Amino acid sequence: MERKVALTGIKPTGLPHIGNYFGMYKPAIGLARNYDTRYFIADYHALNSMRDPKKIRELTYEVAATWLAMGLNPDKSILYKQSAVGGTFELTIFLMAFTSKGLMNRAHSYKAKVAENIELGRDLDDGVNMGLFTYPVLMAADILQFDSDVVPVGKDQAQHLEMAVDIAQTINHNYGKELLKVPAALIRESTGLVIGLDGRKMSKSYNNTIPLFLPEKKLRKLLMKIVTNSQTVDEPKNPDKCNIFALYKLFTDKEQQAEMRKKYKAGGMGWGSAKQELFEILNETIAPIRQRYENLINNKDYIDEVLRNGAERASEIVYKKLSFLRKEIGLG
Ligand code: TRP
Repeated sequence: MERKVALTGIKPTGLPHIGNYFGMYKPAIGLARNYDTRYFIADYHALNSMRDPKKIRELTYEVAATWLAMGLNPDKSILYKQSAVGGTFELTIFLMAFTSKGLMNRAHSYKAKVAENIELGRDLDDGVNMGLFTYPVLMAADILQFDSDVVPVGKDQAQHLEMAVDIAQTINHNYGKELLKVPAALIRESTGLVIGLDGRKMSKSYNNTIPLFLPEKKLRKLLMKIVTNSQTVDEPKNPDKCNIFALYKLFTDKEQQAEMRKKYKAGGMGWGSAKQELFEILNETIAPIRQRYENLINNKDYIDEVLRNGAERASEIVYKKLSFLRKEIGLG
């Protein structure tokens, strides 16, 4: 039986922290067990707001190296850069013809920009380029070109995904047949799962993150900053009200957690040694990923090769889809 297709779109932003690792990377890579998985770096989407060529290139390598270091297998999955598959942009033009301007007017990312302009007393269209305005159409093309079955996205992208569904349905309805597979969203709940150094959700905007690729010494130093209460070494402690233990749980099994619970309850363990234990276990998990990342980022030729190969395989699928569509709509 043919496997279903899962597509993951990746914005080239900075390096991951452990919240991203558990919230996004691990589940997205896990999809490869049951799906035909495709991952791409949305560099043309990034261009709407990122104009430094050096920066885009750098971030693209970083993000590719990160996914590969996390265990994305480029032989089993396809990893490519959006800009390298020209067919996506032809499909975008086709989709444009069926996308009402009204639909785009309602897109959150565009509306947020307009709202900001209103607040600052600027012209409504200030800083709004057509890339931003039509962002959901390109996103729909990313998805529909592969007949994707599922698309894992954060909650912030749920509306964009609904727009892809809307566009596909409009086209299918117009031609009276299923020219395009209607995709389903796999919405990632914002995982309150991973807390940051201060006990709030781990997030760059709270400045409480633990970057995944921090060198060992810096990692240890950072973990020593985890916020605790002021109990003394001797006092018995409550693991369920402790930021250290909350992080510890992510990296350990039930037995290790039970052991650690005992140490908390018995008293005699200071926060310093609890943090040290967390560091050791965390470092043990991260070290191989960090090492792979270091190797990859220093081997750009390899990354180029993976991305080139990915783009070729993606293009083949996309061009097949396009030639089918061209015939169906009377252009081919
Ligand atoms: N818009 C997505 C984000 O900001 C990235 C993205 C672009 C995407 N195209 C996609 C995600 C297609 C899923 C499918 O995170």
